Amino acid sequence: MSDAGFSSCPSIETRGFGKSVQVRLASKFYGDFAALKDVTLTVNPGEFLTLLGPSGSGKTTTMMAIAGFTELSSGAILIDENRIDHLPPNRRNIGVVFQHLALFPHMSVADNVAFPLRMRGVPEDKVRLRVRRVLELVELPTFGERLPSQLSGGQQQRVAFARAVVFDPPVLLLDEPLGALDRKLRENMQAELKRLQRQLGITTIMVTHDQEEALTVSDRIAVMSNGQLEQIGSPEELYQYPATPFVADFVGDSNRIVGTVRTVAGDTCTIVTAGAIECIGKKRNWDDASVAALVVRPERVLVGREVGAVANRFNGVIENVNYAGDSIKYVIRISREDTLVAKVRNAPHHSRLHVGEATVVGWGADDAVVFTPANSLGDYRN
Ligand SMILES: Nc1ncnc2c1ncn2[C@@H]1O[C@H](COP(=O)(O)OP(=O)(O)OP(=O)(O)O)[C@@H](O)[C@H]1O
Ligand SMILES: [Mg+2]
Repeated sequence: MSDAGFSSCPSIETRGFGKSVQVRLASKFYGDFAALKDVTLTVNPGEFLTLLGPSGSGKTTTMMAIAGFTELSSGAILIDENRIDHLPPNRRNIGVVFQHLALFPHMSVADNVAFPLRMRGVPEDKVRLRVRRVLELVELPTFGERLPSQLSGGQQQRVAFARAVVFDPPVLLLDEPLGALDRKLRENMQAELKRLQRQLGITTIMVTHDQEEALTVSDRIAVMSNGQLEQIGSPEELYQYPATPFVADFVGDSNRIVGTVRTVAGDTCTIVTAGAIECIGKKRNWDDASVAALVVRPERVLVGREVGAVANRFNGVIENVNYAGDSIKYVIRISREDTLVAKVRNAPHHSRLHVGEATVVGWGADDAVVFTPANSLGDYRN
């Protein structure tokens, strides 16, 4: 797409006008039930932060509180150090794309996009100019006269995005903006969203419960569970160094092996499972306890000829094979009580293993983390 069209409209193409957003000790009660409990987080200017978590974990509540559609029971919300939680939504200057805030069906695309400007009393000649430029930005310059029903799902999402950014908000909230799209379109839109957000420099908070989407588009991810923040960090931090078993489980796939603590030496811990499997990994958020959970990613589990001289090495039998195109997942039984999932790249040199085949499986001590129950949500013992 050419940038030429924006040269006389610096506000649309200028990066870096995003402002910081702070949520401080935010709580929201419905009767006795806490939908949010003391959530504190800071989103930096221009940053793309994703709220990730299971259904009911408080993601939408957080967004609604920032946007001003939900009043907090306690806590504060600041934009650029200024408290905004006493302001009505239309005075917070925040762009929103919420799943339930669909396009106005009876209005043309151009009128939909113009709506926030007309609400703000922007003169009509400026409205037309801005609408044209924003529709160019989302690559729908010729769609202004159509009705939303004459657009594809992805085009509707782009119009919703255009409507949310047309008034140059420094902050943009996206609640499951791509939820209704099929996988292929969703992936294209993720890239599109990221490009537009970068181009505009808007501080963006997005909700998703799709962890792959979160890992792809975010500068940082905040993982929520039960109305609380579990961990906040870059995609890589969350994936490589999950702070809790919940995060390890929720972000990416993982094998979780529960056992009794046998030895603790330096930064490693050895556990023994009910199936008498002895395995070792790195301690994480350690708290002395007799029972611990070792977590290892399926792609770190080596199989067959790949297994070298690693600290964890077991004989096993292939119990299941799941073919996923670019990768193959093996379920491998290593004791009467224990199975492991190994994810192997489907490379030409990989010789396929079959159900019932005996094999060797293993991983390095550095590739597994061991948590104690005190750091977990208490629900991980199978
Ligand atoms: N108006 C309300 N009255 C009572 N409880 C509510 C209300 N709104 C939300 N809740 C509860 O608050 C909790 C958090 O809801 P929220 O909508 O923030 O979840 P979410 O993380 O967005 O989930 P989802 O992924 O399903 O959209 C849920 O248990 C929900 O039932
Ligand atoms: Mg929600």
